[in-house]
Formats: sequence, C-alpha cells, structure tokens
Amino acid sequence: MKILISAGPTREKIDPVRFLSNRSSGKMGYALAEAVRDAGHEAILISGPVTLPPPAMVELIKVESAAEMAQAVKQQAREADVIIMAAAVADYRPVKVHTNKMKKQAGNLILELERTEDILASLGKIKTDGQLLVGFAAETNNVIEYATDKLKRKNLDWIIANDVSASDRGFATENNAVTMISATGRIIELPLDNKYNIARSIIAHLLNY
Ligand code: PMT
Repeated sequence: MKILISAGPTREKIDPVRFLSNRSSGKMGYALAEAVRDAGHEAILISGPVTLPPPAMVELIKVESAAEMAQAVKQQAREADVIIMAAAVADYRPVKVHTNKMKKQAGNLILELERTEDILASLGKIKTDGQLLVGFAAETNNVIEYATDKLKRKNLDWIIANDVSASDRGFATENNAVTMISATGRIIELPLDNKYNIARSIIAHLLNY
C-alpha cells in the first residue's frame, strides 16, 4: 500500500528573518513513516522544517509553509491508499509578508492574520472509495469531544486524539499517548510509550493486523 504521512510544523513568513510556527518536532510523523516502511508498505513523508535525519527507504518531500504542504499533499493524495496528517499545520498566516526586515517602531505592532487552507478538510471532500483518511487532533482540554468533532466535520475515517496538556507526551517529546477514534465508533487507547511503538500500534490498528 502507498501511505502518505505529513509531519512537523509549518512556518508562515512575516519577513525574511521572522515567521510564525509551533513546537512540533516531527518525531510522531517520522515514526509513523518508519512504522509504515517496516510493515512493508511504501511511505511518502511530507515534512515541514525539522532537525530529524531523513528516514531510510522513505520518500521525503520537504515543505515550509501551510500552502506548500497543501500543494504537496494534494499532489500525492490521489494515489494514496492511506493518508495520515500528523503535521501541525498553521491555521493562520500573516496577510502581508514584508520583503525587507521589519524595523522596530514605537508602540505595539498588530499583525493581521488570515486563515490557511484546512488540508485535511479539503481531502475529506475529495476522498476516493477505499481511501483511509486519518487526522490527529492536538488538544489541551475536552480532548475526546473536540477530536470527535474534527472526525465528523472533516469526513475522516479515524482521528487520533492527542492530549498535549501534559509535558511527557505530544509536542517535542520522545513519548506519546493517544486515543484512536473511528467513524464507526471504535475507541482504542494507546498508553504512554515511545513514538515508534505508538506509530506501530496505530498502523496495525488502521490496517487491521
Ligand atoms: O511532531 P511532534 O513533536 O512529534 O508532536 C506530535 C504532534 C503533537 C504534532 C502530533 O501528534 C499531532 O497531534 N499532530 C496534529 C497537530 C495539529 O495541528 O492538530 P490540530 O488539532 O490543530 O489539527 C487537526 C488536524 O487537521 C491535523 O491532522 C492537522 O494535520 C490537520 N490540519 C490542521 C490545520 C490545517 N490548516 N490543515 C490541516 O490539515
């Protein structure tokens, strides 16, 4: 099977030296790509800027912004049997990208932001028969409720609820703990473990091993 995975943060430029981003290290997405490869499937990894080494035997496509990630994901999506969006894609980007470095000025600075494309929601609208569409939901509160809402709203087959309120899991940690929720009402808890083992369990459940 051809399995497409997105990983890492995106960077939304303010000027040539500044950007808006988040704390995603890419570890969860890279672990998923390795688990896919190790299960004998073709892994295509679309990654925002991270410091991780490229995984062996995985096709790696590097992107920077949410717009670049949307373009790369949509280009590959048609051929994919499974799509897993583990990337922490920015929801907003600056309306204006300054050509030159912005100079300090007296008083406050107000940045106007506009919405980026919701890649997963776009994929949910064009999902092909038999394609499995999987999202992550990084939440600090009402984790299961908000994740279930994303599952329905984005027309997903599975959502992986990631409680990111604790310091031992989620963003930029070695370990993770998640709850997998399917559109058919299955709920699978994966307790705290290293991200590779969590990734292996996720792939096994998605593909019914
Ligand atoms: O990278 P690590 O440091 O290992 O951390 C892992 C992680 C916490 C980043 C990862 O496990 C995780 O939870 N990823 C999703 C983070 C996120 O952006 O969640 P969200 O609830 O904001 O988005 C919901 C889903 O929509 C996600 O699948 C996201 O990829 C997708 N999305 C979001 C915004 C957008 N513009 N387009 C999208 O496709």
